[in-house]
Amino acid sequence: MSVEFHELEVSAVIRETAECTSFELAVPPELRDAYRYKAGQHLTFRFPWEDFTITRCYSLSSCPDVDETLKIAVKRVEGGRISNWLNDNLKVGDSIVASVPEGRFVLDPETRSGTPLFLFAGGSGITPVISLLKSALRTTKRAISVLYANQDRDSVIYGEELNRLAAEHSDRVAVHHHFDAEGGYLTSADIHAILHHTDISEFYVCGPEPFMELIERTLADAGVHEELVYIERFVSPADPDRVESDAVDVISLEAPDGFSLWLNGRSRTVPYQKGKTLLQCAQAAGLNPAHSCESGYCGSCMAHVSTGQVYMRTHEALSERDVARGVALLCQSFPASSEPLELDGDSTSFRAASGVKSSYSKALSTLAAVAVFAFMVAGTLVLRLVH
Ligand SMILES: Cc1cc2nc3c(=O)[nH]c(=O)nc-3n(C[C@H](O)[C@H](O)[C@H](O)COP(=O)(O)OP(=O)(O)OC[C@H]3O[C@@H](n4cnc5c(N)ncnc54)[C@H](O)[C@@H]3O)c2cc1C
Ligand code: FES
Repeated sequence: MSVEFHELEVSAVIRETAECTSFELAVPPELRDAYRYKAGQHLTFRFPWEDFTITRCYSLSSCPDVDETLKIAVKRVEGGRISNWLNDNLKVGDSIVASVPEGRFVLDPETRSGTPLFLFAGGSGITPVISLLKSALRTTKRAISVLYANQDRDSVIYGEELNRLAAEHSDRVAVHHHFDAEGGYLTSADIHAILHHTDISEFYVCGPEPFMELIERTLADAGVHEELVYIERFVSPADPDRVESDAVDVISLEAPDGFSLWLNGRSRTVPYQKGKTLLQCAQAAGLNPAHSCESGYCGSCMAHVSTGQVYMRTHEALSERDVARGVALLCQSFPASSEPLELDGDSTSFRAASGVKSSYSKALSTLAAVAVFAFMVAGTLVLRLVH
């Protein structure tokens, strides 16, 4: 099943900074169900460009638990086609072609309400992060630390809203700003300074590549289990006029007759049709794994290769570490050897690709519950002794 696209009308344009504009999008009543979303998800947009179509993703900075209207924020990228076009041209009343919401950079509903939440944002990476923040504040009792890095004070997007949320929830929210212009680039020491409870917290990271790399490395050095770290990479697909031809002839690759795909808690056997991606084969077999851009840059179709080998045409949405850990994009993958191929498509984050996360979180929840219970029993005993 391919992703649905619809025309949405721009209902408001808000200049956030000199480099960034928010756009509110009106959803007609008949499409309300299709555009229900989770905090942290994004829309994929199609733009006519010369004689072809360009696609780009933009995260929703609005929060379904709080905000009435869908909102995105687009920050200019130097030399970028669409970010500059949108900032310069899109106005109230214009229509824009947008997919229904997609993406796995979302809060895990299974997470215990007491699990601390760390949100790391760099520049425009604040868009899904502020949505997650608002959702966690409205729907959980979690303690939340936000680290937001920008070039300077004038580059801060949603600064007033962040300050207001921090003031209204000062008992459980701390927002730390970092400005390169004042203290130099963010360092591991700056991150360590705010970290606590690294063994039981969850971490969400979105920003420019060097920022993400620093946070991921620092968390790994601090011993954070990688299944507790969620990553959203802001990348563009190769536009049709910039696509490089396939380095590998996928038809000639050795392949098994089929592969197994773990989906919605069940393992399914999918026949492999030579030359088709694993996503296309799964769809032909009547399955509907999560997907959005189908071009390798949104990360919606991630799966973990448990056994066997795949060749990926492109994988902008993944870091080299993800690839080394066996994360694959179904929309870009083809079997690359005749050995049996097994994939797990049930993961919820870039890091939670092997299904370990839910069992790991459950184990943590159980440990925490046992600790709290033991603490209560000990407290009762002490009280009895005192009396
Ligand atoms: C899930 C997801 C969510 C996102 N959410 C947001 C968001 O909320 N806000 C936001 O601002 N962005 C977001 N992005 C990023 C966004 O989709 C675009 O990547 C970004 O706006 C840049 O697009 P562009 O068309 O302006 O730049 P592009 O035209 O893609 O160019 C990007 C850079 O690459 C260079 N470049 C690219 N190809 C070539 C080439 N062949 N030769 C030479 N130079 C090249 C350009 O000069 C430029 O510097 C998100 C991305 C993803 C995947
Ligand atoms: S659907 Fe976007 S990366 Fe595969």
